[in-house]
Amino acid sequence: MKIYIETYGCQMNINDTEVVASILCKVGHTICKSIEEADVILVNTCSVRDNAEQRVLGRLDVFALQKKKNKNLIVGVLGCMAQRLKEDLLNNKNVDFTVGPDSYRELPEIIASRLESGYKKTETILSLKETYSDIEPVRMDSNHVSAFISITRGCNNMCSYCIVPFTRGRERSRDPKSIVREAEYLFAKGYKEVTLLGQNVDSYFWANPDNPTESVNFFQLLELVALIDPTLRVRFQTSHPKDIRKGVLYTMAMYPNICKHIHLPVQSGSNAQLEKMNRKYTREDYLKKIADIREIIPNCAISTDIIAGFCDETEEDHKETLSLMEEVKFDSAFMFQYSERPNTLAARKYSDNVPLEEKTKRLNEIIALQNKLSLESNQKDIGKIFEVLIEGTSKRSDKQLIGRNTNNKMCVFDAADGVKVGDYVFVKINNCTSATLIGDIQEVKKTHHLHIKSISEIKNDIKELKRKRDEWLKKRESEGKH
Ligand code: SAH
Ligand code: SF4
Ligand code: F3S
Repeated sequence: MKIYIETYGCQMNINDTEVVASILCKVGHTICKSIEEADVILVNTCSVRDNAEQRVLGRLDVFALQKKKNKNLIVGVLGCMAQRLKEDLLNNKNVDFTVGPDSYRELPEIIASRLESGYKKTETILSLKETYSDIEPVRMDSNHVSAFISITRGCNNMCSYCIVPFTRGRERSRDPKSIVREAEYLFAKGYKEVTLLGQNVDSYFWANPDNPTESVNFFQLLELVALIDPTLRVRFQTSHPKDIRKGVLYTMAMYPNICKHIHLPVQSGSNAQLEKMNRKYTREDYLKKIADIREIIPNCAISTDIIAGFCDETEEDHKETLSLMEEVKFDSAFMFQYSERPNTLAARKYSDNVPLEEKTKRLNEIIALQNKLSLESNQKDIGKIFEVLIEGTSKRSDKQLIGRNTNNKMCVFDAADGVKVGDYVFVKINNCTSATLIGDIQEVKKTHHLHIKSISEIKNDIKELKRKRDEWLKKRESEGKH
């Protein structure tokens, strides 16, 4: 059968769609690119904010119209909305089945039984084990340069505003051997960058079930992936301010191919709000982590997520968010208005009492400030030379190429002979906007020379950083922490 899949939500969902495609292709189905030619439409959904759900509900109406044209069409909802709304979608939206994030292995059977017997079905049992470790994702709409690899599933942090722990279940860490195998396989196929994904990568921890003394934590995993090849870039997200540790920072500093960018969502600059959000750190703790990052990795970019207008947020709280942003000088940010999610801790305990106009006003102030900070951050890069991995051509002109530097900043530059997608080039920045660095190619790199430092300088740096990391680790072990 021809299967059309549409994906909403986070990168985890994009990766899950690739797992779903793999499961379905293995049993002989094919993936198609339009709803008109599809026998089955799958929509992989997000519940994180109300507007994400509304968008999907709108699409389900479009799919219902398509069902009138194609009587045999099957429509299935996957992902977080399937988990949250279950039968509601079957009853109200002309959907044939809903399958939650831990039940994708059941999909071939569910599709077959819908065809044979016409039964509608919802399969949303959350698992303590499922990690899809053995499934090799089919990379869809990929640039064949950069790929996502999920390293954990679920989340154990009960941030009070957040639906994710309810839709994704308990946190599970995937076997490091299968992660490394997947990264090696991608590299062998020509990929140059992998992003390790988890709701909280810092809590990655895998113990060998046959020998629990053998374990791998996040920085060890990062190192294993970085060691695959110096020309394979490694990124990761999301880091949690309460859990990110110096071991990760030293490891990032040690390996030139681990990109110097940390996404560290702060959510709010006010301690009262952070407490209500159940984030388990204070403004001061957060600023201390920022100081550690700046000390160990001086040129690290830092981005964040911010929520405007959470329950009981006062003008004072909001001002504290603005002042924290000024203090940290984030390079970029994702910014949202608080959207109450049914049955979360916040929905049960607090009142969503910041009026909509006020939420919008605060969000706009946050966005305006971040635009200024992003522009200032980019202006500081004018005159610098960065190594950029070419990811594609610019949307505006096919004579221009785009790619990111180590700091995850998008760079735009004129194409040149002999330079193609997947190559590393050095780009000198001579202009910018708040969203992009604009520059010129300096030198074409056929082989990657691990940045501008000499190999012996890098080796020396690594020795010193490894010594510091070992010292730090010994101290933690003596305190009984891993
Ligand atoms: N695990 C990651 C991100 C999860 S969701 C983390 O802990 O940071 C991505 C972002 O969506 C969050 O960082 C938060 O800023 C935002 N978000 C989550 N729930 C929200 C809600 N109910 N309303 C508005 N924004 C929300
Ligand atoms: Fe949601 Fe918090 Fe988990 Fe992130 S860490 S997914 S915000 S509960
Ligand atoms: Fe959305 Fe689910 Fe991801 S709620 S953000 S798709 S984990």
